[in-house]
Formats: sequence, structure tokens, C-alpha cells
Amino acid sequence: MSFFRASLTLASALALSAPALARGEATSVAAEPAGDAAAAEVPWWKTGVVYQIYPRSFADSDGNGVGDLNGITQHLDYLKDLGVDVVWLSPHFDSPNVDNGYDIRDYRKVMSEFGTMADFDRMLAEMRKRGIRLIIDLVVNHSSDQHAWFENAKTGPDAKYRDYYIWRPGKADGSPPNNYPSFFGGSAWSRATPGGDYYLHYFARQQPDLNWDNPQVREGVYDIMRFWLDKGVSGFRMDVIPLISKDQTFPDLSAEQLADPAKPYAHGPRTHEYLREMNDKVLSKYDTMTVGEAIGIADDEDHLFTAPERRELNMIFHFDASNVDRDGWRWKPWTLPELKADYDRLYTALGDKGWTATFLANHDKPRAVSHFGNDSPKWRELSAKALATMSLMQRGTPFIYQGDELGMTNFPFTSIDQFDDISARNLWREKVGGGQVSAADMLATLNRTSRDHTRTPMQWTAGEGAGFTTGKPWLAINPNHDRINAQSQQAKPGSVLSYYRRLIALRKQVPVLVDGAYRDIDPGHASVYAFTRTDGDARAVVLINFSDQPVDYALPDGIAVQAPLIDNGGGPTAAPGARRVTLGPWQATVYRY
Ligand code: GLC
Repeated sequence: MSFFRASLTLASALALSAPALARGEATSVAAEPAGDAAAAEVPWWKTGVVYQIYPRSFADSDGNGVGDLNGITQHLDYLKDLGVDVVWLSPHFDSPNVDNGYDIRDYRKVMSEFGTMADFDRMLAEMRKRGIRLIIDLVVNHSSDQHAWFENAKTGPDAKYRDYYIWRPGKADGSPPNNYPSFFGGSAWSRATPGGDYYLHYFARQQPDLNWDNPQVREGVYDIMRFWLDKGVSGFRMDVIPLISKDQTFPDLSAEQLADPAKPYAHGPRTHEYLREMNDKVLSKYDTMTVGEAIGIADDEDHLFTAPERRELNMIFHFDASNVDRDGWRWKPWTLPELKADYDRLYTALGDKGWTATFLANHDKPRAVSHFGNDSPKWRELSAKALATMSLMQRGTPFIYQGDELGMTNFPFTSIDQFDDISARNLWREKVGGGQVSAADMLATLNRTSRDHTRTPMQWTAGEGAGFTTGKPWLAINPNHDRINAQSQQAKPGSVLSYYRRLIALRKQVPVLVDGAYRDIDPGHASVYAFTRTDGDARAVVLINFSDQPVDYALPDGIAVQAPLIDNGGGPTAAPGARRVTLGPWQATVYRY
């Protein structure tokens, strides 16, 4: 981005609207005109804001208790008002739902609970009418065991599709070929028939891994991609994409590797060759956005997936920061300097050219405000806004998970029977059933970590069914929907939802907040996260108090603040020229300087 564009646009944005933005009157400010030559420098997948929809839990239009595509279509104006540019739709394909759609039976068919292909086409057309693009979930490390390929493959060694999956004989004693564990517990190998060969599955046994070394598998995947791109989708979130290539000698993992199998699984020999091929054969022929779910990938390996000259993906999700409170499956306490260090490592590895995806949560994580903020009634709103400020002001394409824009919280689980998620139920069976962990201990852990916290239905209204369904919801609705819901926040200027709108509008107004360099200016501070975004003379500093105590904060590096661009209402903002600011509990302010 040229200095000229940055300073010019920032200056005009500030001159016209900084005070209005800070006061919260910015939602009506028009974005830069489309087609502007300078704006064209930065691709849409960098400037855009992405909203993740978990269709099962978003909106149920027909009262069967399960969200559906028509439910999404009915709420597109809500997304438009929020300022969303791109929707990432979690899997909407035909599936037996062992892993809620991440086990696909037919990649060209819509899950019947979610609707029909006509519903999909209408949803897509309505999105496009509103200038919203759609990216879909490409889940091709594995299929469902009910996919026609596997149904055929499992019939025997000579089956036509046998080599679409990965088969090995057991050891002489009949045990699995090696010691690979499944992410969902037990061995990563199962038999399709008693005494027969084993097939590989990194996830549930109903999710057999596809054999990417077979060129027909790859062509099959590319055809699926073309099918959806030709319909008008704008790209893919790629599920566990680093896992697609396997070391087909299948060496046993060492004890150290077993502690974090994602790492060895993510370092197969041919992943990058396959991603380049996918790009050359498919992605490069369309105007797409791609984001890989990079489990097992270190920050300094990011460029292997995303450096433009390598022609693989646009960006990947890194998980160190969101796993700051994890020790394997266990929860552990965390500190702000640890969280900042995770981001710092990533941004250092990315340098000024690299690009990433920023996010607070997804369908595999707890709720953002419960995870990193303070979800007590006193601090929930402010801390949700503080976290939003962090995520939307960091460098990268922001991904917002449905409901986080309302400050939705974790669900208060009291029994294992309330969980749906296969990983929680398997963990319980293994650890509690196996007598290693008490039920109370595991329940406390799951109340911090479970994937089901983000899968409870979207809270649209205070009414019965939370405006999500008129029927019996597939997963219990959080009882706090009487207080936390979209309807009550829509027209309220101080709501979390209104603040998200303002933040998104601000990011669109001020280019340095999109592609300016990121620097953590105070990595060691125990409760303040302070970072800058700069591009020549265009400079912003983001100050966030991650505690429920006020902090008297001396800005490092001789920084003197100018007018605030936005503030979450946690306390008064500082006067222009100040080198010290008082940050109220969970106050977040973005100043130019
Ligand atoms: C990814 C998905 C997760 C799923 C797994 C297997 O991690 O995000 O929900 O269980 O892949 O497909």
C-alpha cells in the first residue's frame, strides 16, 4: 500500500469522522468508493470482514429444532447491517452427522435437515444481492464412512475405490499397524470387516482419511470444488488441510510426538505439492479466498502455505493464542503476557508482507467472552467489546463467530448428558469411564473447554426458543437468552452488537487498521495489551485493559495520543497530547498518534 493512499485516506477519514466514530455515530459513514484505484491494491479478502455461520445453530425456519439455509436467508439483512462482507458457512452437505457435518456423505448434496439445493441457490443469490460473498467448508482430509467411495472401498482389496482410502494389514498379533492415535480418542486405525485390513482415520472411525496420493482422489476433490465455484461461491475454509499428505511408511510416533500428534500429522511429505496443484488446476481459475485450518503448523511455517509466490492459500488460522489455556485436553490458567507472546511470535514470523486470519472463537472453541474476557454480569459487555477491539484491530482478515457479536457466553453444563459433541463424549468415556479423572473434574474442564459452548443456538430474542426455533432445539439454548439476545441489542447504542458495527465500520474507513504494520509496544505488561498499527505517517495505537481494575498507563516509546478513533465506553478517553492514560476496567480505546 502506498504511503500516499494511507495518509490521504486516514487524514480525510479523521478530519471527517474521528469524533463521530469515537462517539459511536459511525455506522452510517460510507466506505471508500468502490473501484477507487488505490483501494483496488488491497484484495477483497484482506479488506473484508468474515462471519462464521454454524448452520445447525443459526436459525431454524421450519420448526424442526435444527437451523437451516432458509433461516440464514431470513437473517441476511442482520449480517448486512453488521457490516459483514463474507460468510463462512460450516458444512452444509449431506452427512450422517457423527461430527456435525464434518463427515460428508455426498459433497454435491445439501444436508436434508438444512434444506435443498434450491434453498442454497436462493441463499447465495440473496447474499450476492447484498454484496456478501460466501465461502464454504472444504472437508476433504476425510469423508464419511457412508460416502459412496468408502461404501465401495470397504467391500474388499479389489474394490474399485479401495485405493481412495488408506489400508494396512494389522500386526501379527492383530493389533493396529502403528501407534497413531485418533484426535477423538483410541487408535486412528479401525477395521471395516473382522480380521480384514485396517483403514486410517485421524478423527472418528466414521471419518476415514482419503488417500491424496491417489491422483483420482485429487481430481475428485477438484471436481467438487469446481462444482461449488461454478455455482458462485467465492472460496473455501479448508478443514485440517495440513493433514492431507501422509508418510505412507507409517512409522510409530515417539512419546513426545504422541503428546501432540497434530504436529507429525501436519508434516506429511507432499502437502505443499498438492496445494500448489489445487491452486494451479482450480483456484487460480476463479476469484477466490482460501483460509486453511492449520492445526499442527508453527508460526514460522506460515509462509509455506501463504507466500503468494508459492501459489497455495491466502491465509491460515493459527491456534497457539486460542490454546493459551490448554495443556493437552486439560484447561490451565493463562496470563496476558503469554497471550501477547503468542501473537508476537506469529506477527514476527509473518513480517510486514505476510497475512493471517484473526479470530476469537469458532465452532471448536469456547465462547470468546468466557474464554478470554469476564462473563460475569458486571463485566461481560465491556470485556466482549474489549476483545472485539483486539481482534478487529489486529492485522489480518477478521473472522467473527456467530453470537460473539452479542457477547454470548458459555453454557452452564451440569451433566455429561447435556453434551452433543463426539470429542467431549469420547473424552468422558476414556478418562472418567477409565477411572483416571473424576466426573466433577471433567465437568469443570468441559465447562471451560467444550466445543458445545459455541454450538448452542443463536440467541435472537428473549422469547421461548430464543427466536431460533419454534420447536425443540437440537441442543439446549443458553438460559441467559432472556438477557443476551440480538433483538434487545439492535437499537441500543451501547450494546455489544452496536459496538461491533462501529468497529467494522471503522476498519473499513481507516486503511492503516487493515494493512498497517503491527507491533506490540509493551509485551511484558501484565494487564494492558498495547499495540500499534502503522504505515508511514498513518499511525494508530490500540490500548486494552484486560483486567477489572483501572490502570494508570504511561505510554511507551514517547507516544502521545491524538483523537480517539473508537472507545468501548470503559472510562473517559485521554485528551490529545496525553502520554499517560487512565484505562478503566476492560476499557479499550484506539487512538491515532
Ligand atoms: C476441524 C473442524 C472440526 C472437526 C474436525 C474434523 O477441526 O473444525 O469441527 O471435528 O476438523 O473434521
